[in-house]
Amino acid sequence: MRVLGIETSCDETGAAVVDDEGRVYSDVVASQFELHGPYGGVVPEIASRAHLERIGPVVARAVEEGGGLEAIDAVAVTQGPGLVGALLVGLSFGKALAWGRGLPFVGVDHLVAHLFAPFLQRKGLEKQAPELPFIALLASGGHTAIYEVWGIERIDLLGQTRDDAAGEAFDKAAKLLGLGYPGGPVIDRLAAQGDPLRFELPRPMMASLDFSFSGLKSALARHVEAHGVPEGKELCDLCASFQEAVVEVLVEKATRACRLRRMRRLVLVGGVAANRGLRAHAKRRAEALGIELFVPPPVSCTDNGAMVAYAGALLLKAGKSSGWDVAPYPRAPGTRRGKIRALALGGPKKSTLGGEGG
Ligand code: KG4
Ligand code: ZN
Repeated sequence: MRVLGIETSCDETGAAVVDDEGRVYSDVVASQFELHGPYGGVVPEIASRAHLERIGPVVARAVEEGGGLEAIDAVAVTQGPGLVGALLVGLSFGKALAWGRGLPFVGVDHLVAHLFAPFLQRKGLEKQAPELPFIALLASGGHTAIYEVWGIERIDLLGQTRDDAAGEAFDKAAKLLGLGYPGGPVIDRLAAQGDPLRFELPRPMMASLDFSFSGLKSALARHVEAHGVPEGKELCDLCASFQEAVVEVLVEKATRACRLRRMRRLVLVGGVAANRGLRAHAKRRAEALGIELFVPPPVSCTDNGAMVAYAGALLLKAGKSSGWDVAPYPRAPGTRRGKIRALALGGPKKSTLGGEGG
């Protein structure tokens, strides 16, 4: 079964063709960084318009490289969480295409899609997929959480951020330091040349599996207020110290979750899993603790259509599909422990949603 996956939840227009074993035939991603850069963050209205302009060509290329329309057996689209206007573009496009071609259609939760990214098999890249179950740390621009993953139909939430997501912390820190958007990759690059021990920054909420990054952001803001934005080596040192604080918290909690749940497999996913500091630190800790670590290549960590296509294939194989009336939802319904189970069933029921997305 070959599935066309479409992703438009934030600032990347993605489309890909993937089969139900995770083989990636095509994966096209059009980023909008240059449009949002001047604002230091994603502007929802600009994102929706850009998706609208790009969705046609992006899907056309993914389909062509993926073997043509005849080769597509189903359509999967990110349904939420994300920016509602942006989600609506992909969802409407995907529904229209599936309806026109008479294909099965399924709405996919963006977070669930991230969790199964390690199973993608990209040409020329080694696949390192874990056996089920595993512990997953999902760290992206919108979400930071730890899950116990048993399969597409059972995903248990163990901890999550109470304020900012890890990627958001990187983005806000970069904005504060005048480094542009998105902040993660720039800080990653500068941190590689800096001394992580130079500045002392807090590691908040170490006692819990939940996360809180707003205090760290405030500490950085206070440092900049007191000393100004540094340059050269000092800027690298500040980036390295900031990155080290985020990474230490993420790795400590993810490995603690493994210990608490007696799990020996850990997966890192989401845009922040592309961070070199995080990858290196997690590798060292996992080796020391006898935990098997799985981190997909950076292209599978940041938003892409391939992970949506594969999660869609798993849902369809499990007999789940969506009606034409599915609507985008802005927030993760899994804000309470255990609730994410509903996500894996093709999106939450309307009654579990608050706000505009329902
Ligand atoms: O998963 P993703 O592409 O989109 C969301 O679902 O949010 O994650 C985007 C986030 C951004 O906050 C970006 O700054 C961060 O991932 N990111 C990184 C790196 N690459 C992307 N953070 C740290 N280091 C990186 N190399
Ligand atoms: Zn994402």
